[in-house]
Amino acid sequence: MRSQYSGPPPERGLFCNRTLNMRAIKAVGYDMDYTLIHYRVEAWERRAYEYIRDRLVEQGWPVADLTFDPMLAIRGLIIDTAKGNLLKANRFGFVKKALHGSKPMDFDAQREAYNRTIIDLADRRWVFLNTLFSLSEACIYAQLVDRLDAGQLPGPMGYVDLYEHVRKNLDATHMQGRLKAEIIADPERYVIDDPETPLALLDQKSAGKKLLLITNSEWAYTEPMMHFAFDKHLPDGMTWRQLFDVVIVSARKPEFFTTRSTLFEVVEANGEALLRPHSGPLNRSKPYFGGSALELERHLGLSGDEILYVGDHMFGDVHVTKNVLRWRTALILRELEDEVRAIAAFRATEIRIHWGLLTRAGNDKSHLARQVERYADIYTSRVSNFLFATPFVYLRSPRGSLPHDPSLPGGTPVFTTGDGAGSVPTE
Ligand code: IMP
Ligand code: MG
Repeated sequence: MRSQYSGPPPERGLFCNRTLNMRAIKAVGYDMDYTLIHYRVEAWERRAYEYIRDRLVEQGWPVADLTFDPMLAIRGLIIDTAKGNLLKANRFGFVKKALHGSKPMDFDAQREAYNRTIIDLADRRWVFLNTLFSLSEACIYAQLVDRLDAGQLPGPMGYVDLYEHVRKNLDATHMQGRLKAEIIADPERYVIDDPETPLALLDQKSAGKKLLLITNSEWAYTEPMMHFAFDKHLPDGMTWRQLFDVVIVSARKPEFFTTRSTLFEVVEANGEALLRPHSGPLNRSKPYFGGSALELERHLGLSGDEILYVGDHMFGDVHVTKNVLRWRTALILRELEDEVRAIAAFRATEIRIHWGLLTRAGNDKSHLARQVERYADIYTSRVSNFLFATPFVYLRSPRGSLPHDPSLPGGTPVFTTGDGAGSVPTE
């Protein structure tokens, strides 16, 4: 629900699942990638895709001709690693749309494969596309399934083995420094500038909130990227480092939220970042590496519901944080801007051509929508939307509706938008 603050466009609202009084929030933790810094998805994912593909070519796979297809997957889909399929499921886990490899499955094949299936993401068979970083992985996996079916990949190999192989190569792509070095060398090409994001954080800081940066990115990437995205928009002489009370890189979320691991201080010497084990209070002028949320809570002297964590990764940023620590959570969902505009214009089928809306599946909520509802107290398209409200805003959730509520026409499924008004088109 949009609250009593002045005039954001509807697609830039702060949408509320569970009432959140920002006055009670003493610290706001931020994820970096796709949260404080938004990338040009097509450029970033294309490059990541090309790195994975080229690694496979080096391993002798005949895939040099494959190219990234940004329309093949959207966030919130589910990979069925047992069958080599890409699925869209509704909130109950029933499959509503399916591709085998990159080809749509016909009605009978889909029914045959899934009419007795309820997807449970706790089972390793299913891989949920949690973030925009997942699109390169889904795209190349789907295309490789086509090649595997055509007998063009080294064998014997099953769909699960193929997935594991893609995953391993994607991890290596993100870890080995070459892709990141390219991004650092040409940030304009990959980053969508948002001058208001640093201002939103400045506003929260001025209101007395502690700001935390908790990112899985390493220091060598975090520092230049934050410098690029933030420093030019801050008041003269101020740098991004002065905004934050605590900076933690290589945090290893979600483990950061669930287990204790050693905390290191990042020591910069001769252009190199070295790690020194750390104990005792945290120093705001130093970046840290690793550690755990429990240790951070102790350092801040704050407990779960006084901390809001803002991130884009459905599992690593909001699900675990909510389930384990009971922190308040905000999900950044950039696609919401297109989605809300499409809903308003009743042109659900025009966007993302074959998958339809992110938050709908058939005439029901999608699996992604269900997770947003469960784990994100609030959700919004970008961090700078906080500027439309005061840092003390009281965000009130809409009254939940049930099918028997008298306001709903009998028997006809009607979806309410965040502010309780109107129906939206189904797919
Ligand atoms: P955060 O969103 O700021 O926590 O950081 C995300 C970091 O995780 C970035 O440095 C990404 O390169 C990295 N990353 C994203 N997806 C993967 C993956 O699938 N494997 C390994 N690293 C990843
Ligand atoms: Mg992120």
